[in-house]
This record gives sequence, structure tokens and C-alpha cells, in this order.
Amino acid sequence: MTGKELASRFQEYFKTQPRFFRAPGRVNLIGEHTDYNDGFVMPAAIGFFTTVAAAPRGDRKLIIRSENFNETLEFDLDHLPAKTQGKWVDYLLGVAWVLAQQGIALRGANLLVQGEVPIGAGLSSSAAVEVSTALTLLRMSEDPKAQHLALSEIAKLCRRAENEFVGAQVGIMDQFVACMGKAGDALLLDCRSLDFQLVPIPSNLRLVICNTMVKHELSSGNYNIRRRECDEAVKTIARNDRNVHALRDVSPALLDQVSAELSPTVRKRCEHVIRENQRVLQAADSLRKNDFQRLGELMAQSHISLRDLYEVSCKELDIMVDAAHGLPGFVGGRMTGGGFGGCTVNLVETPHTVEFSAVVSERYERATGIKPQIYTCAAVDGAQELG
Ligand code: GLA
Repeated sequence: MTGKELASRFQEYFKTQPRFFRAPGRVNLIGEHTDYNDGFVMPAAIGFFTTVAAAPRGDRKLIIRSENFNETLEFDLDHLPAKTQGKWVDYLLGVAWVLAQQGIALRGANLLVQGEVPIGAGLSSSAAVEVSTALTLLRMSEDPKAQHLALSEIAKLCRRAENEFVGAQVGIMDQFVACMGKAGDALLLDCRSLDFQLVPIPSNLRLVICNTMVKHELSSGNYNIRRRECDEAVKTIARNDRNVHALRDVSPALLDQVSAELSPTVRKRCEHVIRENQRVLQAADSLRKNDFQRLGELMAQSHISLRDLYEVSCKELDIMVDAAHGLPGFVGGRMTGGGFGGCTVNLVETPHTVEFSAVVSERYERATGIKPQIYTCAAVDGAQELG
């Protein structure tokens, strides 16, 4: 839906002119399951957005209409539900809840939400909804502090909404890049300090994202189990070395030293996280130097590690990764996001993207019987008000 269409839809429902706020989905180039271990990630915001058209109301109601779910729900800002509703609105309610918890005075409003980020594809449709909602509620608030709250602070609040309200124990990566992403750049983020550097993606490369069409569900358990395994490892390792507060602090040598105290499964999880952190820094360096050969190797190693050590890939993701191998213009590819389905990310030289997409699609469909969706993207700017 174009901006004009969204505006006229809003007019139709609410009889006023809206303001527009939007936030993008993201793809992660490398650094998977490292964010909640205080490690490094390198995502980019992509040109699929959730847009919220909104206008204040004279009362304390929050009326939220989703175009995607064709549903309108009504809430009272003074009696917001403290528990999830088990549906799409949870991401918006979670944000309103966390802002209220912060003592931010929210205003009654009409919201019309329209999302383009494919849902359940591992491209962070949830962060796009959270961040666009937070930006809307904050910028429309009458509280000057809220109106000017920094985007990096908004990212932290949105993560809290997802952790504490929705119940998915995610890290900061998705919300951060949805807020702070920059057109043309990947964002190398230190998830402990939240310091980041922009790493230009060479203009002759595109992000080709291949959707297996196998849906992943973050709050459905597996993700939280991986988190618990990492926490368990940290507790054990910290008994040997008090400087260890997260897997970020564990060197390969220290892991070897404490190995006997960890279960084989937990050891594998640690090995992935520790090596993946190293790969992120090396990948940023390779990208800066245009060393595509090395970058491709690091992405391949990341996928193998996610498949064999962290065990968050699936048959379809592995097939999609293999389908890209050897194609002209292919630099590197791997599963991206939480895993258990979703997408692969591929760096492909621009002139080859059309042929690349056609061949990968054909190979994948032949092997699985599933027709994939393939999106050719460039990095875009993070959350903003439009117009
Ligand atoms: C999901 C989470 C992120 C991150 C990735 C895995 O996308 O939202 O915080 O943990 O999985 O890297």
C-alpha cells in the first residue's frame, strides 16, 4: 500500500489527517545468537517497513487497527492489559506498557498499522512493529522528554517490551538496527556497550534474501532454550574465572580449560558463540577491505556452525544455502536471524542478482516442493517520521 493509500484509509476510518512513522525490518549479515551473549552482530536495515499512521484523540483510548489482520482493537490507556492477548497486538501493547512503566505520559490516539515485513520469516517484523509504535507514541506525546527520546533509547525500551511483555528473550540486535540502521551500510554493533560502527556495503553488492517459507516462531521455546544453555555455561565458567559475565568474555583457550565441566551440548553452544564473535569482527574487516573471498568463507563457516553446533538451522535452510553455491556473482550466504526456518542472506554482485534469484528459486523448489520468495534489497535508513 502506498503512503497516499494509507492516508486515505486513515481518513476513512478516523476522519482526520495522520502523521506517519515507520521502522524497517532487518537482515543480519553475520553474528547470530551472539547479541544476548554480549557479543557482536552485523545487521543491516532493509526496505520492508511497518508504517503507523496516527493522530491523537481527545480521550484516553488507544484504538489500533491492523490492515494486515483486518482487525480493530480498543484499549484504555489507564487500564492497559498487563498480559499478552496472544496475537499481533501484543507487540504494540508491550510497547505502550513499557513506556507507561517508564512514567511516560501517553496520549489517547488512533493508530492504523500496515506492515510489509514478511511475518515469521526471521526478518524482524516484530522489531519493526515495536519501533514504529514506540516512535509514534513518543513523538505524539505531550511530554518533551518523550518527544525527544534518542533512537538508541527507544531500541532498548522496545527490547524490554519483547522480553518482559511478549515473553521472547531476544537480544538487542533487531530493535537497535531498526532504529539506527543507515542507507548503504551494515551496522557493526557491540551488544555490550552498544557502540557501533557503520560499515559500507560496496555499491556493487546486493543483499539477496531467500525465504524458505518455513515459518519460525521465536517465543515458541527453542530460542529461549538456547538462551538458558548459554546462561548455564556462563554460571559454570564464572566459577573458574570471575571476570566472565557473558560468553563474550570467554576465550577459546578458557573454553578448552573448562570443557569437562560442561555438557557436550552446552559446550557446542559455547563454541559457536565464541567463534562467531571472532567471525563478525573479521567479516567487518573483510567488508571494509573488499575481501569478498574471505567474507564468503566467514559466512559459510557461520552457517555450518549454526547448523552443527548451535543447531538452529533446518533442512530447508541448508538446501537454500547450498542452492547458492557456485553461482556467478555469489560472494557468500548463510541462514539469517533466529533460525528454525525463515531466510538465508546472500551477498551477490548486482549484475547477477536476477539470474541468481531464478536459479536458487528453481533449485530450492525442485529439492523441497516449496516455492520460495526472493527479495533483492539494499541497506536503508532506520526508523523515522515521514513527511
Ligand atoms: C532473533 C532475535 C535477535 C537475535 C537473533 C539471533 O532475531 O530477535 O535478538 O538473537 O534472533 O541472532
